[in-house]
Amino acid sequence: MVKVNLGGCSSFVKDADYKEYVAKAFKALEVLNSGSGAGNDFLGWRHLPSETPESLIAECEAIRDCWKEKGVDLVVVIGIGGSYLGARCAIEALSHNFAKQLSGKKAAPEVVFAGNNLSEEYIAELMDLVAERNTATVVISKSGTTTEPAVAFRVIKEHIEKTYKDASERIVAITDAKKGALKTLATQEGYKTFVVPDNVGGRYSVLTPVGLLPIVLAGFDVREMLAGAKEMEDACSAMTEDNPALQYAAMRNLLYSEFGKKVEILVAYNPKLQYLGEWWKQLFGESEGKELKGIFPASVNFTTDLHSMGQFIQEGERIMFETVVNVEKSSRSVVIGSDPQNLDQLNYLAGLHVEHCNAMAQLGTKLAHIDGGVPQLEVSIESISAFNLGGLFQFFEYACGISAYVLGINPFNQPGVEAYKKNMFALLEKPGYEEQTKAIKARL
Ligand code: PA5
Repeated sequence: MVKVNLGGCSSFVKDADYKEYVAKAFKALEVLNSGSGAGNDFLGWRHLPSETPESLIAECEAIRDCWKEKGVDLVVVIGIGGSYLGARCAIEALSHNFAKQLSGKKAAPEVVFAGNNLSEEYIAELMDLVAERNTATVVISKSGTTTEPAVAFRVIKEHIEKTYKDASERIVAITDAKKGALKTLATQEGYKTFVVPDNVGGRYSVLTPVGLLPIVLAGFDVREMLAGAKEMEDACSAMTEDNPALQYAAMRNLLYSEFGKKVEILVAYNPKLQYLGEWWKQLFGESEGKELKGIFPASVNFTTDLHSMGQFIQEGERIMFETVVNVEKSSRSVVIGSDPQNLDQLNYLAGLHVEHCNAMAQLGTKLAHIDGGVPQLEVSIESISAFNLGGLFQFFEYACGISAYVLGINPFNQPGVEAYKKNMFALLEKPGYEEQTKAIKARL
């Protein structure tokens, strides 16, 4: 269960103001629930937890088992933005921090990611790895036309075709049901395909095959993830004041609109959650940042970044509030020992769990930041698990939809993303861009 604690805002906001924003959030939630708002053809994500059929999970597991039989030990997941960050977030959160370095037989293939940049070095070095390993790939693109994954896929496809007789069985495509270059290619080559539903946009697609297949391939339990998400599907659609998504959306909009807090930092105190920050930034940045409005989403990992960004957060321009993803329990235990010489002067910590020190750092930071003018919201989960990650995904998606509607923004489009693509295509002289090529060259 995801819980929200707004206690770290109470010294900043008046109760009456919060109530006003709760009322706005209720209206926005009603619009979301009734499907009467802007972008309402992209609301399929709301019921993915309750409507995902067992047969879809079984299909993902069939790929996992087939590749296991082939001895596949490396899966390259190709995708960018919403076709990448959810899977990466879940896999990083659920994996052992040192899975790659640990010896012993691995229960699941290693999952690596490509197609999320255009760095030549990245692809060349990935191919060094691919050449050493028994490889399969999942290429994900809803539109089927995105340049970054298409380039990476062309390179990896060539390698797989040259290396393996069963090449087409080592490639799975996740794309639109009917249209796009990837769909045409997959049909022609006979690849197994999964569909990204029409009514689910990229950044809301982690609980479709876009996220589910890579997560299954990495060896994690998507049934648990969907169960956790289902709990939050119910909690976050409820028209009640204890709806956590409604509370979070109301407070962040109040801080933005009435207190000039234009930046929100998502804070985690566990490195496994670094990619939760990346996924969350896309979700909120691409959903809200339009029409010259929106809270700028940033993310930090504490205590690491207290030694780099802590100064600014404490004393720099007072433009931000923070949302801490609070994990109540560590799943592992390390107790700090006693040292007779005590040269490091740490004996005062002897007998304590490292996580206790982490909790005290978290509490101390909360108090310092509140004193420094940074309101704090807290989003808590009991532990890092598939169940709770599913809950966080669904919670943040609801909160994002509600927040954007409070702001008067369509949360489900991304018109601004096209601007760089048009210039890039013109500069790369893509067929069909002749006029733009001439115009852009004249500017240079
Ligand atoms: O959320 C979005 O819509 C985007 O981030 C897309 O997911 C991203 O641009 C990748 O698009 P596609 O899946 O069509 O390749």
